[in-house]
Amino acid sequence: MSVDSEKLSTLLHETRSFSPSDEFRAQANFNDETIYERAANDPEAYWALQAEQLTWFQPFENVLNWEPPHAQWFVGGKLNAAYNCVDRHAVGPRKNKAAIIWEGEPGDSRVLTYDMLRREVDKAAHALKGLGVQKGDRVTIYLPMIPELPISMLACAKIGAIHSVVFGGFSSKSLQQRLEDADAKVLITADGGWRRGGVIPLKANADEALSATKVENVVVVRRVGDSAGATMQEGRDVYWHDLMAKAPTTPFEAEPMDSEDILYLLYTSGTTGKPKGIVHSTGGYLTGANTSMRSVFDIKDEDVWFCTADIGWVTGHTYIVYGPLSAGATVVMYEGGPDYPGRDRFWEIVEKYGVTIFYTAPTSIRTFMKWGPEHPAAHDLSTLRLLGTVGEPINPEAWMWFHQHIGNERCPIVDTWWQTETGCAMIAPLPGIVPTKPGSATRAVPGIDVDVVDEHGQSVGFENGGYLVIKKPWPSMLRTVWGDDERFRNTYFGKFEGIYLPGDGAHLDEDGYVWILGRIDDVINVSGHRIGTAEVESALVSHSSVAEAAVIGRSHDIKGQAITAFVTVREGIETNQELVAALKQTVVEKIGAMARPEEIIFTAELPKTRSAKIMRRLLRDIAEGRVLGDTTTLADPSVVESLKSQYKEAD
Ligand code: WT7
Repeated sequence: MSVDSEKLSTLLHETRSFSPSDEFRAQANFNDETIYERAANDPEAYWALQAEQLTWFQPFENVLNWEPPHAQWFVGGKLNAAYNCVDRHAVGPRKNKAAIIWEGEPGDSRVLTYDMLRREVDKAAHALKGLGVQKGDRVTIYLPMIPELPISMLACAKIGAIHSVVFGGFSSKSLQQRLEDADAKVLITADGGWRRGGVIPLKANADEALSATKVENVVVVRRVGDSAGATMQEGRDVYWHDLMAKAPTTPFEAEPMDSEDILYLLYTSGTTGKPKGIVHSTGGYLTGANTSMRSVFDIKDEDVWFCTADIGWVTGHTYIVYGPLSAGATVVMYEGGPDYPGRDRFWEIVEKYGVTIFYTAPTSIRTFMKWGPEHPAAHDLSTLRLLGTVGEPINPEAWMWFHQHIGNERCPIVDTWWQTETGCAMIAPLPGIVPTKPGSATRAVPGIDVDVVDEHGQSVGFENGGYLVIKKPWPSMLRTVWGDDERFRNTYFGKFEGIYLPGDGAHLDEDGYVWILGRIDDVINVSGHRIGTAEVESALVSHSSVAEAAVIGRSHDIKGQAITAFVTVREGIETNQELVAALKQTVVEKIGAMARPEEIIFTAELPKTRSAKIMRRLLRDIAEGRVLGDTTTLADPSVVESLKSQYKEAD
């Protein structure tokens, strides 16, 4: 594996450390340091204790069955995720507590108490059941950030149907691929969604995606209205509000699910062109999500929780829906862009609702830095008590800015390392216990066993970089890849027997803190979103002018990484700005706007090794303008020279 040595040495020079205040420590849910040791000595006992925070219809008999790479957690137990997130709070003292405080982009808002949320989820469950949705069926959800999104997810969970949420920024082609792979019966979408004052035509995208699928019904939420230009297909499409108006208002009995029954699928990019449907279980996933809310995020009944992710990504699944709601928390959910109408929108929301815990991404923090500290300074942020980040390594400058300008040097920052596959935060400080260092996610949470190893699976110690691994199973780990268990085995357990390989490079310092060095596979992290190089390459070669394409991630000030595509065109094709625009557009159409290449470099040939492997490291060096490394394995070194000079021209 290649570790970016420049990055490593910068990180090694980071010596600042911030300890929790006595005040924070005293009030923290987790403030006994011995929890780490106790959990390490008996992880099953630790996780069983955490699982007991959930309400089980039938208690589990066995904590863990581990037949690598397949784990079963809380075997024999029965529960329902929606019951745990809604019903159990809708009786007793939380009945009239705000579950979701929703803020629409145009300024409209809606508050759902736990009791109101229960009524909505139950009506939606009745409505979906009325459309023939049964336990185990797949329901794909392609919605903007509106209350109907968590309501739909929870309604599926209540029935025992498997939801597959597709981020609203994905194109119709991507939606189609995910609908087909999941073999979805019903699609829930909206006429459109608001984004920075403009309309995203979700229904039109959906119509295009649906032509080749087996979807029987489409439920359409009216969010935008006539200007979205949505058309309805008789017999297939039905409006959400019509369905809900007709649905019985009687309680919907939660389906008792086996702990191992699937709660949801969520697609993520890998090293091949085909996204993987990550499969999450009910009991284990919910235990992980719920535990991390209490441990890493120190959630309390008085808190107002605001996570800025979109529910279309795993962060939103775990930290807008299943984590905070299972903990009975108040969740702020915001529909739109951070700079609409002004660059202080997030801070306005923090002030308006008295947000106490704020969880966002390093790329957003770098954007706030660029916009300037006057935007947060214009608002009262004194209610904040804890901050969090996720998605990519946070550069120490951004960490310090977050600490000073948002946390007023008072709020601990939890940098949380995890993945779609891990279900919840794996490496993160317990904020009342662990001193933080800017740029490090610190150490594994209790009950999680991580290490950094070499090619042979041996611990590398404190000196070198290596592969990050998770050595023992954990409750919220993915169970398989939907429809492709072979891929699950190979990708995550193929390198080291019985040991999970996340695909990140890492380094341990002398205090045992983990410093993430980025992906070691052909996956690019653009603004905290994972994009497979193979997906972008196959989108590019689908264009009739393209012969071959190689895509790499280069470092980018705001996005973390940006996509650069090197393209060779077919014989006789003219390379010009129109073609650049057309190729970028093809990627947007095939995948979505987040995968649009930052730049396209035409080249007569791609640099390849003698065994015909594209030398991506070299392309990355060229894109980042670095001095070239060793090129002796190159078949035709002159290719590099011409690429280098072309890149300068493209600047
Ligand atoms: C990849 C997972 C988990 C939700 C967001 C992304 C990178 C994530 C951190 C962090 C350094 C991080 C890793 C990981 N990553 N959080 N705190 N520090 N790197 O989920 O799309 O599944 O991507 O994001 O490379 O493997 P995802």
